[in-house]
Amino acid sequence: MGLRGDYTQAGADFSVEQDWSRYTAEEHALYRRLFDRQSKLVPRYACPEWIRAIAHLDAAREIPRFDQVSSKLRAATGWEIVAVPGLIPDAAFFTHLANRRFPVTVWLRRPDEFDYIVEPDVFHDFFGHVPLLFDRVYADHLHEYGKGGLKAMRLDAVKMLARLYWYTIEFGLMTTAQGVRAYGAGLLSSGGELAYCVDDPKPRRLPFDLERIMRTGYIIDRYQDSYFVIDSFDQLMRETAPDFTPIYARIRSSQ
Ligand code: PHE
Ligand code: CO
Repeated sequence: MGLRGDYTQAGADFSVEQDWSRYTAEEHALYRRLFDRQSKLVPRYACPEWIRAIAHLDAAREIPRFDQVSSKLRAATGWEIVAVPGLIPDAAFFTHLANRRFPVTVWLRRPDEFDYIVEPDVFHDFFGHVPLLFDRVYADHLHEYGKGGLKAMRLDAVKMLARLYWYTIEFGLMTTAQGVRAYGAGLLSSGGELAYCVDDPKPRRLPFDLERIMRTGYIIDRYQDSYFVIDSFDQLMRETAPDFTPIYARIRSSQ
């Protein structure tokens, strides 16, 4: 649970006002530098759905106004952005997703965290996650994930479901006509790992395998050892559609 943000103003659902006027000129400039660096990498390393979506967004100059982006998103896929102080509890997070609301952290990292940050900030959340919410299939999948999260809480299986999120929504790769590309937000927003995950011979790149993913632990403070590669968001949707209840039970009984 990240304690860096200001949770004192948060509502019961952990939402806050973005209060866009409070960002400083220095913060907008830092955001722009982050955006410029990643923009040089994404044509080569990002999946086509992400590249298509960023064009609608006009998000390169300054920290975006969430309400403006939400209007576009609502029209495109019925999603909206909800401002949050940082990481939020599972129940609140899953409930937002299950209602097609994506929580985006309001604060921006410090200049000395340009290359690396452990907690998600507005740059990671916005640049990494929000563009893909314009893709119909991805958007529908994340909605299903949110509902699946509430169910996993009842089944005491959040740890297994969180691994799915980690190896897809955060660090997922996709096969495209141009080769392997990133769609995971942790990759898209990373200055170093975005090229590493595609080009470096060291990490494993395994075909998507739901049960294997749910059995695979992960590390949060360095580049991943293993990535899982999907063929398409349609495949991700299809593979995650079955009832996970027996899968959770099987994994649990063999560990
Ligand atoms: N099919 C999952 C279940 O029954 C729900 C889910 C859908 C989870 C999509 C993640 C992604 O629990
Ligand atoms: Co993220």
